[in-house]
Amino acid sequence: MPRKKNPWADHYTRKAKEEGFAARSVYKLREAQEKYRLLRRGDKVLDLGCAPGAWSQYALRVVGPEGLVVGLDLQPVKLSAPNFIFLPRDVFEVTPQELQALAPEGFQVVLSDLAPKTTGDRSGDHFRSLYLARRALELALALLVPGGHFMVKVFEGERFPAFRQEVASYFQKIKLFRPKSTRASSREIFILGMIFRRQ
Ligand SMILES: C[S@@+](CC[C@H](N)C(=O)[O-])C[C@H]1O[C@@H](n2cnc3c(N)ncnc32)[C@H](O)[C@@H]1O
Repeated sequence: MPRKKNPWADHYTRKAKEEGFAARSVYKLREAQEKYRLLRRGDKVLDLGCAPGAWSQYALRVVGPEGLVVGLDLQPVKLSAPNFIFLPRDVFEVTPQELQALAPEGFQVVLSDLAPKTTGDRSGDHFRSLYLARRALELALALLVPGGHFMVKVFEGERFPAFRQEVASYFQKIKLFRPKSTRASSREIFILGMIFRRQ
C-alpha cells in the first residue's frame, strides 16, 4: 500500500529530515538561538516536552561534550548520547529534587516546548497550554542558576498577558518570539526570559 503523505509536510519538514533532526520544530529553537544566544558550550539544559527529540539534538550540538541535556516527555525519544538523559515522565509528576539530582549546581537553560494535543477549541487549547507553561515556569524557578535563561511555548489567549508579566518578574529581560517556521494557523508564541534573578 502506498505510504500516506503527511498533509503538514513542508519545506521545514524536508529540511529537518535532510539535516538528520527528529522534527521540524528544531528550526524554532535554532532561530531563537541565532537571535538571542540562549545556549552556550558546556551548559546544562533541561528540555521539557522533548519528544521526538529535535530540540535536544540541537542543544547537544551547541553545548558540546562537556555540557548536559536532560529531556523529559510522556512520549518515547530515540536519541542516545553520553551526555543526554531522557526521563519518560509526566511534567506534573516529576519533582524538582529529582531533576536537581541530575545537575546539582543547577541548569543554565530551561526550555519548554510542552504542548497539549490541540482540539481546535482555541480557548481550551490556550488554557491547557498555559497549565503546562506554568509548570515549566515552576520548575525553572526551582532549577535555574542565577543568570540562566528560560524559553517557553504558550498558545495565545486571554490569560497570556498575565503569564507574560509573571515570567517578566523573574528575569532581567523578556522577549516574545514567533519563529518563522511556526505554521501560519498556529497560535503558538514563545516567551524568552533572559538572565534569571533569583528572588
Ligand atoms: C511540540 S512537542 C515537542 C517537540 C520537541 N521540542 C522536539 O523538538 O522534538 C510537545 C511535547 O509535549 C509533550 N507533553 C505534553 N504534555 C506533557 C506532560 N504532561 N508531561 C510531559 N510531556 C508532555 C508531548 O508528549 C509532546 O511530545
